[in-house]
Amino acid sequence: MRIDVFSIFPEYLAPLELSLIGKARQDGILDLQVHNLRDFTTDRHRTVDDSPYGGGAGMVMKPEPWALALESVLPAVGQGTPRRPARTPSDSLAPAKPILIVPSPAGEVFDQALAYELAEEKHLVFACGRYEGIDERVLEWAAGTGSTGTGSDGIDPTSTGSDGPFRVRAVSLGDYVLNGGEVAVLAMVEAIGRLLPGVVGNPESLVEESHADGLLEYPVYTKPSSWRGRGIPDVLLSGNHAKIAGFRREEQLRRTVERRPDLIDALDPTILTKAELAT
Ligand code: ADE
Repeated sequence: MRIDVFSIFPEYLAPLELSLIGKARQDGILDLQVHNLRDFTTDRHRTVDDSPYGGGAGMVMKPEPWALALESVLPAVGQGTPRRPARTPSDSLAPAKPILIVPSPAGEVFDQALAYELAEEKHLVFACGRYEGIDERVLEWAAGTGSTGTGSDGIDPTSTGSDGPFRVRAVSLGDYVLNGGEVAVLAMVEAIGRLLPGVVGNPESLVEESHADGLLEYPVYTKPSSWRGRGIPDVLLSGNHAKIAGFRREEQLRRTVERRPDLIDALDPTILTKAELAT
C-alpha cells in the first residue's frame, strides 16, 4: 500500500518510523511518504493560510498549495497509469482513484469497519488541516463535485458530480476537537497499517481483538497467577478450551453491555447464539 501524508508539521508524523508501522515501511509492505505542505507554496514567506471570507476567528488554509501538493502524488496524465474514474463493475481494468482522507471533526467517524475498508486500498492520501481547516473548494476540486460560488479566474469549474482525481472522505477520530489532523493521521495509519498482511506477526491476534466482531475484547491475564492477593479466573487454568472460549465470550458480552451499550444496539443479531439473545 502507498500512503502520502501532507502536513505543515511533518515532524509530527515521526512516530510512523517506529514499531510495527516503521518495520512495515522497511519491509516494503507500506510505502509511506510524509510531505511538507510549505514545499508547495510559491511565495517568499511560504504562506499556507489567510483570513476567512465572511469573517470569524482564525485562519483558513489557502487552496493553491493544497492543489499543487495533491497533484504531485497523482500519476502524471499521459504517462504510466492513466487517471481514470474509480473502478466500476463494468470497467474492471481502470485503476481506482486514490482516496483523499481529510481528518476533520466534521467528518464521518473512523471505526474498525472503516479501517478494514481502507486497508483494501492501494493508495491513500492524508491532508492534515490546521487552523480553521482547508478551503472547502480543495475538497470540491479533488472530488469533482459542484462548486458553490462563481469563480472570476476564467476557469470553468463545471463538473458532473464525482469526476475529480480523488475519492474524498472527511474522517473524524471522534467527537472532540484536536489542533490539527496529524494526531488523527497517526491513529488512522496505525489502525489501517496493522491490518495489512505481514504487519502483525500473528494474524490470529487480529481476530480476537476489540471490534473485530463488534464486541469489546475479553480481559487477559499473565503470570504470576497470584498477584497482590488477586488470583485469575479458575477456568483459565482448567485446560478446557471450550470452557475458556465460553468464559471469554461471556466476558466480551458483559463488558460491551456495561461499557458500550451502543455497540450492542448496532450488533448483527446473527452473531449471537440463542442463549445470548435470550439474556
Ligand atoms: N482535526 C481536529 N479535530 C479532529 C478530529 N476529532 N478528528 C479528526 N481530525 C481532527
